[in-house]
Amino acid sequence: MRILSIETSCDETAIAIVSKPDTDAAPTSITIEANIVLSQAKKHAEYGGVFPALAKREHAANLVPVLTEALKQANLLTPGVTNLPDMADMNEREPEMAAALTEFLNNHSAPAIDAVAVTRGPGLEPALWVGINLAKALAEAWNKPIIAVNHMEGHVLSSLLDSADLGQHSLISPELPALALLVSGGHTELVSIPDWGTYEKIGQTKDDAAGEAFDKVARLLDLPYPGGPEVSKLAATGESRDDISLPRPMLTSGDFDFSFSGLKTAVRYLVRDLTEAGTWDDATKTAVALEFEQAVTQVLVKKTIKAAEHVGAASILVAGGVSANRRLRSELEKAAADASLQLVIPPLSLATDNALMIGLAALFNPTPISTEIRAEGNWSIDS
Ligand code: KG4
Ligand code: ZN
Repeated sequence: MRILSIETSCDETAIAIVSKPDTDAAPTSITIEANIVLSQAKKHAEYGGVFPALAKREHAANLVPVLTEALKQANLLTPGVTNLPDMADMNEREPEMAAALTEFLNNHSAPAIDAVAVTRGPGLEPALWVGINLAKALAEAWNKPIIAVNHMEGHVLSSLLDSADLGQHSLISPELPALALLVSGGHTELVSIPDWGTYEKIGQTKDDAAGEAFDKVARLLDLPYPGGPEVSKLAATGESRDDISLPRPMLTSGDFDFSFSGLKTAVRYLVRDLTEAGTWDDATKTAVALEFEQAVTQVLVKKTIKAAEHVGAASILVAGGVSANRRLRSELEKAAADASLQLVIPPLSLATDNALMIGLAALFNPTPISTEIRAEGNWSIDS
């Protein structure tokens, strides 16, 4: 089974092509045939965060070129003609994409794929819709089913891949039950996984997501978007100082929820106080970045281990953009080893948004959607 997958939930325009042997029900190995990710992050940087209307416009401008590149990478781009699907909606909503798609279909025959997978949510609805509209048009033109994928499930499954390199990969098979820590720009969740495909959310943030906190604190420290890698880079050069301390929100709350909005506010006041005291300089800034990163890491690690013990997990899966954070990775490694838990984290190249993870989720559950597909900005992993 070969799947072409589309991801446009945030500011990455991504298309991948993945396959598994037809004999495998749940895949134990897959082949990555194409993996194209076009990041818009630089374009959003001047807004200090993702600007939904810009994300939508960029997806619409770039999806068909990314599609062409992905098919070429997989050796599936063949000259020919495909009958045009109904594009009335796309002509109205994304005229530029409709024109590019018309040109593409007029010049290429249908590729040898079995289904089109697309992220239905969660994410920014205007951005999700662009990918969904392309998926619908391709599915109709190529006469293939659509598989609707949950973006967070994609993140979870991405941890089973050892790399994003083209070619065949054996999937890591963590011992179940597992506990997943999902940390991205929009989500911070602890999810119990008794079996593949069964997800139960046992905790989540009450306000800002961990990645959002990194991005907001980056702004307070005059660092560009996306803030996570920038704060982390700065923190790596910082030294702890007694006069710079931040709270560890909800560390001992007794549940599995998080809250990062107060931590961000504490950074704002700390920066203000240090500036007013005339002691705000580059060294102080690195110390604040370090203290913030340590605060977030400590809360995430402690609660993840507690949650894993609570559900009797044998393994911990970590996924989402913030799982690229080196301190979080190394602290989790230590804590998981101490608790005798297997730790599975995606390689850095798969931590942030991509379409491989969407294709992988579709290979795990290739059930076509039976109703008209709609974007679901708040689609929970356990609904
Ligand atoms: O999963 P992702 O690519 O997109 C969403 O679905 O949200 O996650 C993006 C988030 C951003 O908030 C970004 O700042 C954060 O992940 N991030 C990091 C690092 N790399 C990306 N946060 C901390 N440290 C990093 N190294
Ligand atoms: Zn994501």
